[in-house]
Amino acid sequence: MLLIKNASEVFLPSGIKRNYSILIEDGRIKKISKNIKKKGAEVIDAEGKTILPGFVDCHTHAVFSGSREFELEMKLEGLSYTDIASKGGGINYTVKETRKASKEKLVKEAKKRLDRMLEYGTTTAEIKSGYGLDLKNEIKILEVIKKLNDKHVIDIIPTFLGAHAVPPEMDKEEYVDLIINEMIPLIAEKKLALFCDVFCEKGYFNIKESRRILNEGKKHGLMAKIHADEFSAYGGAELAAEIKAVSADHLLMASENGIKKMAKAGVTAVLLPAVPFSLFQEEYANARKMMNNGVRVALATDLNPNCWTESMQFIIQLACFKMKMTAREAINAATLNAAHAIKMEKEVGSIEVGKKGDFVIIDAPSHAFLTYHFGVNLADMVIKNGRIVWER
Ligand code: NIG
Ligand code: FE
Repeated sequence: MLLIKNASEVFLPSGIKRNYSILIEDGRIKKISKNIKKKGAEVIDAEGKTILPGFVDCHTHAVFSGSREFELEMKLEGLSYTDIASKGGGINYTVKETRKASKEKLVKEAKKRLDRMLEYGTTTAEIKSGYGLDLKNEIKILEVIKKLNDKHVIDIIPTFLGAHAVPPEMDKEEYVDLIINEMIPLIAEKKLALFCDVFCEKGYFNIKESRRILNEGKKHGLMAKIHADEFSAYGGAELAAEIKAVSADHLLMASENGIKKMAKAGVTAVLLPAVPFSLFQEEYANARKMMNNGVRVALATDLNPNCWTESMQFIIQLACFKMKMTAREAINAATLNAAHAIKMEKEVGSIEVGKKGDFVIIDAPSHAFLTYHFGVNLADMVIKNGRIVWER
Protein backbone atom coordinates (compact mmCIF):
# COMPACT_ATOMS: atom_id res chain seq x y z
CA MET A 1 0.00 0.00 0.00
CA LEU A 2 1.26 3.43 -0.93
CA LEU A 3 -0.15 6.78 0.12
CA ILE A 4 1.00 9.88 -1.79
CA LYS A 5 0.00 12.71 0.47
CA ASN A 6 -1.01 16.30 0.10
CA ALA A 7 0.25 17.13 -3.38
CA SER A 8 0.13 20.75 -4.46
CA GLU A 9 -1.65 19.55 -7.63
CA VAL A 10 -3.03 16.27 -8.91
CA PHE A 11 -3.73 16.06 -12.65
CA LEU A 12 -7.10 14.31 -13.00
CA PRO A 13 -9.22 13.83 -16.16
CA SER A 14 -11.93 15.89 -14.47
CA GLY A 15 -9.57 18.77 -13.75
CA ILE A 16 -6.68 19.86 -11.57
CA LYS A 17 -7.15 19.26 -7.84
CA ARG A 18 -5.19 21.05 -5.13
CA ASN A 19 -3.95 19.52 -1.87
CA TYR A 20 -5.03 16.02 -2.82
CA SER A 21 -3.82 12.57 -1.85
CA ILE A 22 -3.82 9.22 -3.66
CA LEU A 23 -3.98 5.75 -2.16
CA ILE A 24 -2.64 2.80 -4.18
CA GLU A 25 -3.35 -0.81 -3.24
CA ASP A 26 -2.10 -3.92 -5.03
CA GLY A 27 -0.59 -1.75 -7.75
CA ARG A 28 -3.89 -0.01 -8.59
CA ILE A 29 -5.37 3.34 -7.65
CA LYS A 30 -7.80 2.83 -4.78
CA LYS A 31 -8.78 6.30 -3.67
CA ILE A 32 -8.26 9.93 -4.74
CA SER A 33 -9.33 12.70 -2.35
CA LYS A 34 -8.30 15.20 0.29
CA ASN A 35 -6.88 13.99 3.61
CA ILE A 36 -6.65 10.23 3.14
CA LYS A 37 -5.42 8.34 6.19
CA LYS A 38 -4.37 4.73 5.99
CA LYS A 39 -2.62 2.68 8.65
CA GLY A 40 0.26 0.57 7.45
CA ALA A 41 0.71 2.37 4.12
CA GLU A 42 4.08 3.62 2.94
CA VAL A 43 3.73 7.41 2.84
CA ILE A 44 5.21 9.84 0.32
CA ASP A 45 4.92 13.49 1.25
CA ALA A 46 4.19 15.36 -1.99
CA GLU A 47 3.83 18.80 -0.48
CA GLY A 48 4.74 21.47 -3.03
CA LYS A 49 4.80 18.90 -5.83
CA THR A 50 2.59 17.91 -8.75
CA ILE A 51 1.37 14.40 -9.49
CA LEU A 52 0.80 13.49 -13.13
CA PRO A 53 -0.09 10.17 -14.72
CA GLY A 54 3.04 8.35 -15.92
CA PHE A 55 3.75 9.39 -19.50
CA VAL A 56 2.73 7.05 -22.33
CA ASP A 57 5.21 7.21 -25.21
CA CYS A 58 2.93 5.74 -27.88
CA HIS A 59 5.30 5.87 -30.88
CA THR A 60 8.95 4.78 -30.68
CA HIS A 61 11.50 2.86 -32.71
CA ALA A 62 13.60 2.24 -29.58
CA VAL A 63 15.21 -1.01 -30.78
CA PHE A 64 18.01 -0.21 -33.21
CA SER A 65 21.78 -0.43 -33.39
CA GLY A 66 24.29 2.19 -34.46
CA SER A 67 23.69 5.91 -34.61
CA ARG A 68 23.39 8.61 -37.30
CA GLU A 69 24.92 11.71 -35.76
CA PHE A 70 26.73 12.33 -39.09
CA GLU A 71 23.34 13.14 -40.64
CA LEU A 72 23.04 16.26 -38.55
CA GLU A 73 25.78 17.96 -40.54
CA MET A 74 24.02 17.00 -43.76
CA LYS A 75 20.85 18.55 -42.37
CA LEU A 76 22.81 21.70 -41.50
CA GLU A 77 23.86 21.88 -45.14
CA GLY A 78 20.19 21.89 -46.07
CA LEU A 79 19.64 18.26 -47.09
CA SER A 80 16.18 16.84 -46.48
CA TYR A 81 15.25 13.51 -44.90
CA THR A 82 14.82 11.90 -48.32
CA ASP A 83 18.05 13.47 -49.69
CA ILE A 84 19.95 11.90 -46.79
CA ALA A 85 18.28 8.52 -47.33
CA SER A 86 19.29 8.57 -51.02
CA LYS A 87 22.91 9.30 -49.98
CA GLY A 88 23.11 6.11 -47.92
CA GLY A 89 21.78 7.42 -44.61
CA GLY A 90 18.26 7.02 -43.28
CA ILE A 91 16.40 3.86 -42.42
CA ASN A 92 18.49 1.50 -44.55
CA TYR A 93 21.71 2.64 -42.84
CA THR A 94 20.21 1.62 -39.50
CA VAL A 95 18.93 -1.63 -41.04
CA LYS A 96 22.53 -2.60 -41.89
CA GLU A 97 23.68 -1.93 -38.33
CA THR A 98 20.67 -3.62 -36.74
CA ARG A 99 20.96 -6.77 -38.88
CA LYS A 100 24.57 -7.15 -37.69
CA ALA A 101 23.64 -6.84 -34.02
CA SER A 102 22.90 -9.84 -31.80
CA LYS A 103 19.73 -10.01 -29.73
CA GLU A 104 21.78 -9.53 -26.57
CA LYS A 105 23.36 -6.37 -27.95
CA LEU A 106 19.99 -4.97 -29.02
CA VAL A 107 18.48 -5.71 -25.59
CA LYS A 108 21.40 -4.02 -23.85
CA GLU A 109 21.25 -0.92 -26.04
CA ALA A 110 17.47 -0.56 -25.88
CA LYS A 111 17.45 -1.10 -22.12
CA LYS A 112 19.61 1.97 -21.69
CA ARG A 113 17.07 3.99 -23.66
CA LEU A 114 14.18 2.59 -21.62
CA ASP A 115 16.00 3.41 -18.37
CA ARG A 116 16.32 6.99 -19.52
CA MET A 117 12.67 7.13 -20.61
CA LEU A 118 11.70 5.99 -17.12
CA GLU A 119 13.85 8.69 -15.50
CA TYR A 120 11.93 11.26 -17.49
CA GLY A 121 8.58 9.85 -16.41
CA THR A 122 7.56 7.37 -19.11
CA THR A 123 5.86 4.31 -17.62
CA THR A 124 4.28 2.80 -20.77
CA ALA A 125 5.78 2.73 -24.26
CA GLU A 126 5.12 1.37 -27.71
CA ILE A 127 8.09 0.00 -29.68
CA LYS A 128 8.07 -0.79 -33.40
CA SER A 129 10.19 -3.23 -35.34
CA GLY A 130 11.24 -2.00 -38.78
CA TYR A 131 15.05 -2.07 -38.89
CA GLY A 132 15.19 -5.75 -39.89
CA LEU A 133 13.21 -5.76 -43.14
CA ASP A 134 13.50 -9.52 -43.61
CA LEU A 135 11.72 -12.33 -41.82
CA LYS A 136 14.63 -13.35 -39.60
CA ASN A 137 15.58 -9.86 -38.49
CA GLU A 138 12.04 -8.53 -38.00
CA ILE A 139 11.36 -11.52 -35.73
CA LYS A 140 14.68 -10.92 -33.96
CA ILE A 141 13.65 -7.34 -33.17
CA LEU A 142 10.16 -8.33 -32.03
CA GLU A 143 11.70 -10.97 -29.75
CA VAL A 144 14.00 -8.30 -28.35
CA ILE A 145 10.92 -6.14 -27.65
CA LYS A 146 9.27 -9.08 -25.87
CA LYS A 147 12.39 -9.63 -23.77
CA LEU A 148 12.45 -5.94 -22.84
CA ASN A 149 8.80 -6.09 -21.81
CA ASP A 150 9.56 -9.10 -19.57
CA LYS A 151 12.62 -7.47 -18.02
CA HIS A 152 11.84 -3.79 -17.79
CA VAL A 153 9.35 -2.06 -15.50
CA ILE A 154 8.02 0.00 -18.41
CA ASP A 155 4.99 -1.71 -19.99
CA ILE A 156 5.79 -2.22 -23.67
CA ILE A 157 3.33 -2.57 -26.55
CA PRO A 158 4.87 -4.20 -29.65
CA THR A 159 4.18 -3.09 -33.22
CA PHE A 160 5.24 -4.82 -36.43
CA LEU A 161 6.58 -2.25 -38.91
CA GLY A 162 7.95 -4.49 -41.65
CA ALA A 163 6.74 -1.87 -44.13
CA HIS A 164 9.20 0.76 -42.89
CA ALA A 165 11.30 0.79 -46.09
CA VAL A 166 12.15 -1.55 -48.95
CA PRO A 167 15.31 -3.55 -48.13
CA PRO A 168 18.19 -3.15 -50.61
CA GLU A 169 18.16 -6.78 -51.74
CA MET A 170 14.57 -6.78 -53.05
CA ASP A 171 12.19 -4.85 -55.23
CA LYS A 172 9.12 -3.41 -53.65
CA GLU A 173 6.52 -5.76 -55.10
CA GLU A 174 8.48 -8.75 -53.94
CA TYR A 175 8.87 -7.24 -50.47
CA VAL A 176 5.17 -6.38 -50.08
CA ASP A 177 4.35 -9.99 -50.99
CA LEU A 178 6.81 -11.21 -48.38
CA ILE A 179 5.19 -9.00 -45.72
CA ILE A 180 1.71 -10.24 -46.66
CA ASN A 181 2.39 -13.91 -47.27
CA GLU A 182 5.04 -14.70 -44.68
CA MET A 183 5.78 -11.99 -42.16
CA ILE A 184 2.28 -11.05 -40.99
CA PRO A 185 0.99 -14.63 -40.62
CA LEU A 186 4.06 -15.80 -38.69
CA ILE A 187 4.30 -12.75 -36.43
CA ALA A 188 0.58 -12.95 -35.62
CA GLU A 189 0.85 -16.68 -34.94
CA LYS A 190 3.82 -16.14 -32.62
CA LYS A 191 1.89 -13.29 -30.94
CA LEU A 192 4.88 -11.00 -31.29
CA ALA A 193 2.89 -7.86 -32.13
CA LEU A 194 -0.41 -6.19 -31.28
CA PHE A 195 -0.28 -3.60 -34.05
CA CYS A 196 0.78 -3.48 -37.69
CA ASP A 197 2.17 -0.18 -39.01
CA VAL A 198 3.22 1.13 -42.44
CA PHE A 199 5.39 4.08 -43.51
CA CYS A 200 2.90 5.42 -46.08
CA GLU A 201 4.82 8.07 -48.00
CA LYS A 202 6.16 8.85 -51.46
CA GLY A 203 9.27 6.72 -51.99
CA TYR A 204 8.19 4.24 -49.30
CA PHE A 205 4.76 2.54 -49.43
CA ASN A 206 1.88 4.01 -51.45
CA ILE A 207 -1.78 4.10 -50.48
CA LYS A 208 -2.64 0.88 -52.26
CA GLU A 209 0.25 -1.06 -50.75
CA SER A 210 -0.44 0.40 -47.31
CA ARG A 211 -4.12 -0.56 -47.53
CA ARG A 212 -3.23 -4.11 -48.55
CA ILE A 213 -0.71 -4.56 -45.73
CA LEU A 214 -2.86 -3.04 -43.00
CA ASN A 215 -5.96 -5.00 -44.05
CA GLU A 216 -3.94 -8.20 -44.07
CA GLY A 217 -2.67 -7.35 -40.59
CA LYS A 218 -6.23 -6.81 -39.41
CA LYS A 219 -7.26 -10.18 -40.83
CA HIS A 220 -4.62 -11.69 -38.56
CA GLY A 221 -5.76 -9.71 -35.54
CA LEU A 222 -3.17 -6.93 -35.71
CA MET A 223 -4.67 -3.49 -35.16
CA ALA A 224 -3.67 -0.81 -37.66
CA LYS A 225 -1.39 2.19 -37.25
CA ILE A 226 0.04 4.31 -40.02
CA HIS A 227 2.90 6.79 -40.55
CA ALA A 228 0.79 9.24 -42.54
CA ASP A 229 1.17 12.51 -44.46
CA GLU A 230 4.56 13.39 -43.00
CA PHE A 231 6.14 15.00 -46.06
CA SER A 232 3.15 15.44 -48.38
CA ALA A 233 -0.65 15.33 -48.34
CA TYR A 234 -0.58 11.78 -49.58
CA GLY A 235 -3.98 10.54 -48.42
CA GLY A 236 -2.70 8.72 -45.34
CA ALA A 237 -5.18 10.36 -42.98
CA GLU A 238 -8.04 9.39 -45.31
CA LEU A 239 -6.78 5.81 -45.48
CA ALA A 240 -6.51 5.66 -41.69
CA ALA A 241 -10.17 6.65 -41.44
CA GLU A 242 -11.24 4.23 -44.18
CA ILE A 243 -9.66 1.19 -42.52
CA LYS A 244 -10.46 2.41 -38.99
CA ALA A 245 -6.84 2.50 -37.88
CA VAL A 246 -6.33 3.00 -34.15
CA SER A 247 -3.92 5.85 -34.87
CA ALA A 248 -2.42 7.89 -37.69
CA ASP A 249 0.96 9.38 -36.84
CA HIS A 250 3.02 12.44 -37.97
CA LEU A 251 0.24 14.15 -40.05
CA LEU A 252 2.18 17.36 -40.72
CA MET A 253 0.59 17.69 -44.14
CA ALA A 254 -2.76 16.01 -43.47
CA SER A 255 -5.60 17.52 -45.51
CA GLU A 256 -8.65 19.10 -43.94
CA ASN A 257 -10.79 16.38 -45.46
CA GLY A 258 -8.50 13.73 -43.98
CA ILE A 259 -8.70 15.35 -40.56
CA LYS A 260 -12.50 15.44 -40.69
CA LYS A 261 -12.63 11.80 -41.71
CA MET A 262 -10.29 10.85 -38.88
CA ALA A 263 -12.55 12.60 -36.38
CA LYS A 264 -15.58 10.74 -37.68
CA ALA A 265 -13.83 7.37 -37.65
CA GLY A 266 -12.35 7.92 -34.18
CA VAL A 267 -8.72 7.63 -35.31
CA THR A 268 -6.29 9.09 -32.77
CA ALA A 269 -3.73 11.54 -34.21
CA VAL A 270 -0.24 10.92 -32.83
CA LEU A 271 1.83 14.07 -33.26
CA LEU A 272 5.61 13.85 -33.10
CA PRO A 273 6.97 17.39 -32.82
CA ALA A 274 10.57 16.26 -32.24
CA VAL A 275 10.65 15.11 -35.87
CA PRO A 276 10.25 18.53 -37.54
CA PHE A 277 12.48 19.89 -34.76
CA SER A 278 15.26 17.44 -35.62
CA LEU A 279 14.83 18.10 -39.37
CA PHE A 280 15.10 21.91 -39.01
CA GLN A 281 11.57 22.31 -40.32
CA GLU A 282 9.55 25.43 -39.70
CA GLU A 283 6.23 23.68 -39.97
CA TYR A 284 4.64 21.46 -37.34
CA ALA A 285 1.43 19.43 -37.41
CA ASN A 286 -1.69 21.55 -37.00
CA ALA A 287 -2.75 20.31 -33.58
CA ARG A 288 -5.29 23.11 -33.08
CA LYS A 289 -7.10 22.37 -36.31
CA MET A 290 -7.28 18.69 -35.38
CA MET A 291 -8.61 19.43 -31.90
CA ASN A 292 -11.14 21.92 -33.28
CA ASN A 293 -12.36 19.24 -35.65
CA GLY A 294 -12.85 16.77 -32.81
CA VAL A 295 -9.77 14.61 -33.38
CA ARG A 296 -8.18 13.11 -30.27
CA VAL A 297 -4.58 14.35 -30.31
CA ALA A 298 -1.77 12.34 -28.69
CA LEU A 299 1.96 13.05 -28.42
CA ALA A 300 5.03 10.81 -28.59
CA THR A 301 8.81 11.02 -29.00
CA ASP A 302 9.25 8.93 -32.19
CA LEU A 303 12.60 7.96 -30.61
CA ASN A 304 14.71 6.68 -33.54
CA PRO A 305 18.21 7.35 -34.94
CA ASN A 306 16.90 10.35 -36.90
CA CYS A 307 15.15 11.87 -33.92
CA TRP A 308 16.74 10.76 -30.69
CA THR A 309 15.09 11.82 -27.50
CA GLU A 310 13.74 9.78 -24.61
CA SER A 311 12.08 12.75 -22.97
CA MET A 312 8.31 13.14 -23.08
CA GLN A 313 8.85 16.35 -21.11
CA PHE A 314 10.69 17.80 -24.11
CA ILE A 315 7.83 16.69 -26.36
CA ILE A 316 5.30 18.45 -24.12
CA GLN A 317 7.45 21.59 -24.31
CA LEU A 318 7.66 21.41 -28.11
CA ALA A 319 3.89 20.87 -28.29
CA CYS A 320 3.44 24.08 -26.35
CA PHE A 321 6.06 26.26 -28.03
CA LYS A 322 5.71 24.96 -31.60
CA MET A 323 2.11 23.78 -31.80
CA LYS A 324 0.55 26.20 -29.31
CA MET A 325 -0.94 23.51 -27.12
CA THR A 326 -1.60 24.52 -23.52
CA ALA A 327 0.26 22.68 -20.76
CA ARG A 328 -2.95 20.92 -19.84
CA GLU A 329 -3.71 19.85 -23.43
CA ALA A 330 -0.15 18.65 -23.97
CA ILE A 331 -0.02 16.64 -20.73
CA ASN A 332 -3.38 15.06 -21.56
CA ALA A 333 -2.06 14.25 -25.05
CA ALA A 334 1.08 12.65 -23.57
CA THR A 335 -0.90 10.49 -21.14
CA LEU A 336 -4.58 9.60 -21.66
CA ASN A 337 -4.76 10.30 -25.39
CA ALA A 338 -1.47 8.47 -25.92
CA ALA A 339 -2.94 5.50 -24.05
CA HIS A 340 -5.87 5.55 -26.51
CA ALA A 341 -3.37 5.42 -29.39
CA ILE A 342 -2.15 2.01 -28.17
CA LYS A 343 -5.50 0.78 -26.82
CA MET A 344 -4.29 0.93 -23.23
CA GLU A 345 -6.75 3.58 -22.08
CA LYS A 346 -8.53 1.23 -19.69
CA GLU A 347 -5.30 0.45 -17.85
CA VAL A 348 -3.08 3.54 -17.90
CA GLY A 349 -2.91 7.19 -18.96
CA SER A 350 -4.93 8.87 -16.22
CA ILE A 351 -5.26 9.04 -12.47
CA GLU A 352 -8.54 7.20 -11.96
CA VAL A 353 -9.69 4.61 -9.43
CA GLY A 354 -9.00 1.11 -10.78
CA LYS A 355 -6.22 2.08 -13.16
CA LYS A 356 -2.58 1.14 -12.65
CA GLY A 357 -0.71 3.19 -10.07
CA ASP A 358 1.63 4.83 -12.58
CA PHE A 359 2.75 8.37 -11.77
CA VAL A 360 5.43 10.91 -12.31
CA ILE A 361 5.84 13.35 -9.45
CA ILE A 362 7.10 16.69 -10.69
CA ASP A 363 9.25 18.91 -8.50
CA ALA A 364 7.05 21.95 -9.12
CA PRO A 365 3.91 23.36 -7.53
CA SER A 366 1.81 23.16 -10.68
CA HIS A 367 1.56 21.27 -13.97
CA ALA A 368 2.22 24.57 -15.79
CA PHE A 369 5.89 24.31 -14.84
CA LEU A 370 6.26 21.41 -17.25
CA THR A 371 6.10 23.88 -20.12
CA TYR A 372 7.39 26.94 -18.27
CA HIS A 373 10.57 25.40 -16.83
CA PHE A 374 12.01 23.62 -19.85
CA GLY A 375 15.06 21.66 -20.97
CA VAL A 376 15.71 19.95 -17.63
CA ASN A 377 14.31 16.85 -15.98
CA LEU A 378 11.56 17.98 -13.60
CA ALA A 379 10.76 14.44 -12.45
CA ASP A 380 11.35 13.90 -8.77
CA MET A 381 10.00 10.41 -8.51
CA VAL A 382 8.51 7.84 -10.90
CA ILE A 383 6.04 5.25 -9.65
CA LYS A 384 4.97 2.15 -11.59
CA ASN A 385 2.23 -0.20 -10.38
CA GLY A 386 2.32 1.54 -7.02
CA ARG A 387 6.08 1.06 -6.51
CA ILE A 388 8.81 3.69 -6.56
CA VAL A 389 10.96 2.80 -9.57
CA TRP A 390 13.04 5.96 -9.89
CA GLU A 391 13.93 8.68 -7.45
CA ARG A 392 16.09 11.77 -7.75
O1 NIG B 1 8.78 7.80 -37.73
N1 NIG B 1 9.08 8.17 -40.85
C1 NIG B 1 9.52 7.01 -40.82
N2 NIG B 1 10.14 6.39 -39.83
C2 NIG B 1 10.74 7.02 -38.73
C3 NIG B 1 12.14 7.44 -39.04
C4 NIG B 1 13.01 6.28 -39.01
C5 NIG B 1 14.45 6.60 -39.33
O2 NIG B 1 14.76 7.63 -39.94
O3 NIG B 1 15.27 5.75 -38.96
C6 NIG B 1 9.86 8.12 -38.23
O4 NIG B 1 10.19 9.31 -38.28
FE1 FE C 1 8.02 6.61 -36.55
